[in-house]
Amino acid sequence: MAIVFVLHRFGAFVLLLSSVASASVASLDRRGRDPICKQIADKISSASQVYYPGQSKYFADIKHWASSSSQFSKCSVEPGTAADIGIILGIVGSTKTPFAVKGGGHASNPGFSSTEGVHIAMTRFSEVSYDKDSQTVQVGAGLVWDQVYEALEPHGVNVVGGRVSGVGVAGFTLGGGYSWKTNQYGLTVDTVTAYELVKPDGSVARVTEDSDPELFSGLKGGGNNFGIVTQFTLKTFPQTRVWGGLITYTADQIDKVVDAAAKFSSEVTDPKASMISAFNFLLGQPGVSQLLFYDGPSPPPGVFDDFLKIPHLTKDVKTRSFLSLVTSSPSDATAGTRGIFHSAPVLGYSPTFLKAVVNESVHWGQKLAFKSASFISYDVEPFLPSLLTHTSSRSAYPPSRSTGFLPLNLYFAWTDAHFDGAFHDAVRASASHLTELAISEGQSLDAAPIYPNYAIFGTPLESIYGSNLAALQGLKAKVDPENVMGLAGGFKIAPK
Ligand SMILES: Cc1cc2nc3c(=O)[nH]c(=O)nc-3n(C[C@H](O)[C@H](O)[C@H](O)COP(=O)(O)OP(=O)(O)OC[C@H]3O[C@@H](n4cnc5c(N)ncnc54)[C@H](O)[C@@H]3O)c2cc1C
Ligand SMILES: *[C@@H]1O[C@H](CO)[C@@H](O)[C@H](O)[C@H]1NC(C)=O
Repeated sequence: MAIVFVLHRFGAFVLLLSSVASASVASLDRRGRDPICKQIADKISSASQVYYPGQSKYFADIKHWASSSSQFSKCSVEPGTAADIGIILGIVGSTKTPFAVKGGGHASNPGFSSTEGVHIAMTRFSEVSYDKDSQTVQVGAGLVWDQVYEALEPHGVNVVGGRVSGVGVAGFTLGGGYSWKTNQYGLTVDTVTAYELVKPDGSVARVTEDSDPELFSGLKGGGNNFGIVTQFTLKTFPQTRVWGGLITYTADQIDKVVDAAAKFSSEVTDPKASMISAFNFLLGQPGVSQLLFYDGPSPPPGVFDDFLKIPHLTKDVKTRSFLSLVTSSPSDATAGTRGIFHSAPVLGYSPTFLKAVVNESVHWGQKLAFKSASFISYDVEPFLPSLLTHTSSRSAYPPSRSTGFLPLNLYFAWTDAHFDGAFHDAVRASASHLTELAISEGQSLDAAPIYPNYAIFGTPLESIYGSNLAALQGLKAKVDPENVMGLAGGFKIAPK
């Protein structure tokens, strides 16, 4: 009944969500006022607000880029102050109510920023405050990168953030952060100088290297295990106009793209140059979406010539603002379908390996076509071997800085929820197949960590945090002994 009512009022968007969580909606009383939600609404200040199913803010709050990452919660709450988050954590913690924290809603794993309990949407933390003297910017945890780039553009500076449109600052930065500027300045975590954190006990702290070095490093890759971040302070860097954009190639050009990508990844050493080759399977055909980036108005001759020479289907490459480059990629083309990411970290991209990547895309694209596959994609993201050497600070992820592993991304999208398991199995099988192949090429991958923002749910914590895991469990015991954050989804570090 509830679903029919909701569908009638909100149309197609809810249709995508409705298959996951009809039960929780049905169990609410007629006015939708769950007692825990009501308790929260009674205790928080007027800066914050609780919304219920049927209200448009509620639907915006629980929405995700991948529909499979959404659930119907009992209510959503938009906190407006850190103190109110402390109050909310107190209530969900003492009543053991499952909850979620959502930033930009780009989690690729089901349940990581969704819940059938209390959904916390960070959208009211939307400040961008640039400080020229310290060359840093304070960024609210409810923002997406596009908003940060736009606010910084008039100042001629930028941060090390997301590469395509719509990705949230918070989840991205709490997991690691591979950026167009990573070859120059490292991961996003390497550029964080302070966190405003609501700890699991409800207290609010400014966490820096000096104030609490252990927690500061734990927040760099530790996800939502140590509390809720309201604001990040990030280093800024000068930003000129940039060069790049999207080229698409059809199936008949793939061999040439493979050669160009392998050559780029082994030969180009200019840290301002970066690219992503997305080997896709779409509508029964393989093809490539090629993103090029140069951190300057034009690249030196030679850097991207091999790609520019290949006959293309479409091409949108030019000198432009950083924001224009970020919004030029079609990252929302598959938004609203079901989806899953996984990763197979490697040390490099040989032509043989890239041919195997193409074969994987065709193999799984054809096999899963009968299971409602809409898009199969392997994102080859080469970085310089020095990508992790831009900081001497420790981080939860990556656990070691001695080897510059590359986070090859697998992305499968489909429409029918009945096949969720088949897609999860397939992406796992494909990642392990590619890992075996890289090992058979002689790559030494024993210590290769899997990037938490790409890893499929269920990936063992050892595979993400490596030798850091024991220290992170000890930190967890100090910061969150009652495991309040364990009521939220994600890669969960247990207190030990
Ligand atoms: C289209 C697309 C492009 C991407 N591009 C890149 C890329 O270029 N480089 C890269 O490194 N990654 C990339 N990613 C992966 C991205 O880093 C993750 O999806 C990341 O989790 C997104 O953050 P979010 O805030 O949007 O996600 P959310 O789904 O909102 O949150 C993700 C996780 O972070 C937690 N979280 C969110 N906010 C807070 C908070 N304030 N305090 C504590 N915990 C919080 C959530 O509880 C959840 O566990 C991309 C993903 C997509 C879908
Ligand atoms: C293509 O991929 C499939 C699935 O991983 C594998 O079984 C097959 O051997 C591959 N074929 C080639 C030619 O590499």
